[in-house]
Amino acid sequence: MIKASDLKKTYKLNKKVEVHALNDINFSIPEGSSVAIVGPSGSGKSTLLNILGGLDTDYKGEILVDGKDIKKYDTNYYRRHIVGTIFQQFNLVSSLSVTENILLPITFGKQFDKQHVKERLNYLLDTLGLKDRAEHKPTELSGGQSQRVAIARALIAQPKIILADEPTGNLDSKTGKEIVNILFKLNKEEGTTLIIVTHDPELFNNVNKQIHLRDGKIIDR
Ligand SMILES: Nc1ncnc2c1ncn2[C@@H]1O[C@H](COP(=O)(O)OP(=O)(O)O)[C@@H](O)[C@H]1O
Ligand SMILES: [Mg+2]
Repeated sequence: MIKASDLKKTYKLNKKVEVHALNDINFSIPEGSSVAIVGPSGSGKSTLLNILGGLDTDYKGEILVDGKDIKKYDTNYYRRHIVGTIFQQFNLVSSLSVTENILLPITFGKQFDKQHVKERLNYLLDTLGLKDRAEHKPTELSGGQSQRVAIARALIAQPKIILADEPTGNLDSKTGKEIVNILFKLNKEEGTTLIIVTHDPELFNNVNKQIHLRDGKIIDR
């Protein structure tokens, strides 16, 4: 369960100008559910996702994940095992192979069982249709394949929550649909909580819950 209470985020541009990017944000998200964050450009969607992902800790209010304030988790642990993040730009490392990119989040973790990692890697390569691309470099991949690698990377450490910021934004509609189907499949099969920022009606009509943002506030629809 994720519970956000009275979230508030202000960007200070200079001494005089402030942007109130989030205000009075309250919501709760049950474990294993799917949620779409919807709203026009500039409404605070990415700001909210960055906070949920532990990338931005400079905000007021509180977010509890399984009853614990996310600021109290060990940062590395939180970003590895609690949340996995997928961005619109795939953010792959071009000098590394598909497999190396997927393993990146756990490369520096000593606590991972080799056999388990191998099985997890194979499961993800299989599920995401990347088996025959495992040794390729990102420049040799299509947009859809690149996004699938980014999804595998977000999932390698089996986080409880997937955060995706317009994951289909850079893809054609057919490939976008494929990616969406994969995210929902993982949500159902692995019970991963799915939180997606999207403009795509097909996507936000298929989730358990929609959060509509406008000017940094949640609006009813
Ligand atoms: N780093 C930043 N510095 C200052 N203002 C920002 C920054 N990031 C976002 N903003 C502002 O905060 C508001 C919300 O932005 P954002 O969360 O990116 O919206 P969305 O993802 O819905 O398009 C916008 O007015 C935007 O200009
Ligand atoms: Mg955004």
